[in-house]
Amino acid sequence: MASVEISRLLLLSLLSTTYGLPYFDEDWSPRQIREYFIQRAAEQARPRLDVGFNLDGQGVGQVSGVDVDSNGDLYVFHRADRPWTAETYVMFTNVLSEDAKVPISSDVIYKVDPKTGKLTHSFGKDFFNVPHGLKIDQHDNIWVTDVGRHQVFRFPKGATRPDLELGEKFVPGSDEKHFCKPTDVAVASNGDFFVSDGYCNNRILKFSSSGQIIALWGDREGSYTLTPSSLNIPHSITLIEELDLVCVADRENSRALCYNAGLNNKTSIGTFNRTLIPQGDMGKVYAIYYDKADKEMVAAGLLSEYPLRSGDGSDIYPARAFTYNLEGKQLISWAFITPDVARNGPSLIHDLCASRDGRDFYLADLDQKTVYKYTKNWSTAVTQQQ
Ligand SMILES: *[C@@H]1O[C@H](CO)[C@@H](O)[C@H](O)[C@H]1NC(C)=O
Ligand SMILES: *[C@@H]1O[C@H](CO)[C@@H](O)[C@H](O)[C@H]1NC(C)=O
Ligand SMILES: *[C@@H]1O[C@H](CO)[C@@H](O)[C@H](O)[C@H]1NC(C)=O
Repeated sequence: MASVEISRLLLLSLLSTTYGLPYFDEDWSPRQIREYFIQRAAEQARPRLDVGFNLDGQGVGQVSGVDVDSNGDLYVFHRADRPWTAETYVMFTNVLSEDAKVPISSDVIYKVDPKTGKLTHSFGKDFFNVPHGLKIDQHDNIWVTDVGRHQVFRFPKGATRPDLELGEKFVPGSDEKHFCKPTDVAVASNGDFFVSDGYCNNRILKFSSSGQIIALWGDREGSYTLTPSSLNIPHSITLIEELDLVCVADRENSRALCYNAGLNNKTSIGTFNRTLIPQGDMGKVYAIYYDKADKEMVAAGLLSEYPLRSGDGSDIYPARAFTYNLEGKQLISWAFITPDVARNGPSLIHDLCASRDGRDFYLADLDQKTVYKYTKNWSTAVTQQQ
């Protein structure tokens, strides 16, 4: 499966190199010409690894979530010395083992300098069990999910205790007061928020800013035939507010879908709107993030957990970050995590985010226990025209 996708990827990149210039003797429609220039601009804007950014040696464990605040500072949610392993849960259940019920004793939320990766502030010790998603809203509240506690929290800017807590500690459930391993949150500017829930419930919940349930949808029942509401691990969630859409990475179904968010049109909350990433286009979709500045979606996918053998016998890692337009077209595949980048062993991009100006991207590598920073070297003017 993975190797089929790899060869398709290689073929695609080969084709785009071969047909790098337009053939003017062909009859191109204005739309094709426009798409060609957008593609060229996107290629030139390909983000490049910023080697000046480095998180190493600061106690970061498995990195599960990243986001930036209004000041441009990066927040990193990680598992310190407590990786998620086969012993984390009681076997065949979603309940934490007794050992894992002891909270992680070191800080798991790091604020780091976006230029250097140097730690500037941290909190969150003696509270979390299995850190997962992190998002920062327009007021710089920090929202996180813990898949061990089965809860969602909001921490006001600068606070070390949450002012909003949803779900019941350690108790998985599927009613409106419980979650089961909730993966991520997306917060709208009117304060409404959405939770992707998660590894066991396969549903999306919408809440008002005070935490009252507004709507829920999605299920895995009957997913022998895939429908627009069948989800298999909704792993990441992001809003396109100007289109009134909430988009979900449907990880195990290898796709991403958008639903009407009901922020403006309240009659259509949760109904399917469009396919953002077609099934199988980029492997399992771990993370999606709307880059508002460029009106594009960035996404991280898993083509293979382990290095693949290339023709000359060396290990290669497939590309794992992509840019899509909002109509579901892949524009570029830009983070090629090579052994040089990943340094050793498996690599898994678990989450990603964009800086608010759309220039910088941060990729959270769960297995390498680090964050890579990629920077665009191009004015965003051309891609914005579409
Ligand atoms: C999808 O969303 C767009 C943008 O909000 C809207 O114009 C359109 O009517 C929606 N389509 C469906 C089928 O919900
Ligand atoms: C709201 O959504 C419904 C269902 O998709 C659609 O029929 C209706 O036209 C929409 N209303 C507005 C004002 O866009
Ligand atoms: C940015 O791109 C231009 C043209 O592709 C190139 O000449 C320049 O070296 C790049 N700068 C950086 C910092 O990568």
